[in-house]
Amino acid sequence: MEGKLSVKHLLGIKDLQLSDIELIFKTAENFKAILQQPIKKVPSLRDKTIANLFFENSTRTKLSFELAERRLSADVVNFAASASSVSKGETLIDTVNNILSMKVDMVVMRHPNPGSAVFLAKRVNSVIINAGDGAHEHPTQALLDAYSIREKLGELKGLKIAIVGDILHSRVALSNILCLKKCGAEVMVCGPTTLIPKYISSLGVKVEYNLQKALEWCDVANMLRIQLERQDISYFPSLRDYTQQYGLTKTILDSLSKKIVIMHPGPINRGVEISSEVADGDQSIILQQVENGVAIRMAVLYLLSN
Ligand code: CP
Repeated sequence: MEGKLSVKHLLGIKDLQLSDIELIFKTAENFKAILQQPIKKVPSLRDKTIANLFFENSTRTKLSFELAERRLSADVVNFAASASSVSKGETLIDTVNNILSMKVDMVVMRHPNPGSAVFLAKRVNSVIINAGDGAHEHPTQALLDAYSIREKLGELKGLKIAIVGDILHSRVALSNILCLKKCGAEVMVCGPTTLIPKYISSLGVKVEYNLQKALEWCDVANMLRIQLERQDISYFPSLRDYTQQYGLTKTILDSLSKKIVIMHPGPINRGVEISSEVADGDQSIILQQVENGVAIRMAVLYLLSN
């Protein structure tokens, strides 16, 4: 597989050129074909050691990165902050430098603080991949989301994508907006006024507060979770009120004039932002997103290891 990214680390979609995104998609396509074979492993990263540092909980991203690394034949070490010396006061830099001194080549990091991946990339001598930094960016999620839309509907250029929910606290929203806009899609955000940041229009997105209108406009709706763990005050009267106004049900979906594609990055709060019937229905590509995550992460790891 030929080609080179314009970046040394993957810190955010903000730093990527369209050509980088296209190269990641092309490489992921090749890896996805390999993942359909009986033998799913390739020797591409046989001499590399990768550390997965998770300072915040994760199911999909952590397992997906680990599987991608093992499919590429890398040696893998896992670190969970809750079971480490971080609880004894060790700093992020000290933690990472100690891990790197064990001859680690690449670091995949999830951290609750926005900017932590950029901070690390400036201070340690290793390739850094951001697996989500607070409410800032989640670049591999945006790449797998855009890849999944393209796989389902063809070209991203000209498509209309609505991102619905807690935009204010969502790293997935920001990375998705940046990625989809670079790929030529039109993006709308939809949610309660209190959960839509004031600066959002400056990113070139439409803003809609009415769910029905947003769904009528779009080809794809990406339903986001309410991030209660990042909310220090109440942004709406109650979860029940939120669900009444912004929860996606089969009744709403069937009332639209066209069939739209439904996405969700997970974890899902069934019955809050999306009903089970919709999440598991034939318009949903939620599990395809998860499947594509492994190929996208293999592509990112492979391209950054060169
Ligand atoms: N989509 C996502 O980042 O899920 P996890 O928090 O489970 O990794």
